[in-house]
Amino acid sequence: MDKYTAAVITVSDKGSRGERKDTAGPAVAELLSGVGFSITHTAIVPDEIPDIRAELINCSDTLKTQLVITTGGTGFTKRDVTPEATLGVVERVTSGIPEAMRAESLKITPNGMLSRAAAGIRGDTLIVNLPGSEKAARECLTAVLPALKHAVQMLLHDSVEH
Ligand code: MTE
Repeated sequence: MDKYTAAVITVSDKGSRGERKDTAGPAVAELLSGVGFSITHTAIVPDEIPDIRAELINCSDTLKTQLVITTGGTGFTKRDVTPEATLGVVERVTSGIPEAMRAESLKITPNGMLSRAAAGIRGDTLIVNLPGSEKAARECLTAVLPALKHAVQMLLHDSVEH
């Protein structure tokens, strides 16, 4: 089977300034590679809507990445704006993905309800937000990973066999 392409975008003020080592982004990339995605792009951007937006549009419209995973900026602090940036660029919202992440997260910690992660489709690209800690990012991605290939497959073809 052809490899699907994926980009991993870490959203972090400290990470973008080099003040904190990003471990969530590499962990996400490793999990995606493990199920056959080819990681064609990674970036670290600050918690600013224009920066996040520009990177999401770059991945979707210019790089034509099939899957874009963001990590970070989904909580309640005033700097947490990744879901707003995401919802501002997607054409169709895919609520089932964050619903599944939160359902699985709540089995692990009550704080699972505190991620405002969103997901949606822009063109042929699926964009999915994850929380920022490596632990939370791993747990949330693991919850939805089995369905992600089928999701991107559907975006590339008018019809797929189920
Ligand atoms: N989901 C899982 N599976 N495991 C976790 O430890 N942490 C929560 C939540 N979701 C967590 C989780 C916490 S404490 C917060 S504040 C939110 O994700 C948002 O995280 P973010 O601001 O780093 O995106």
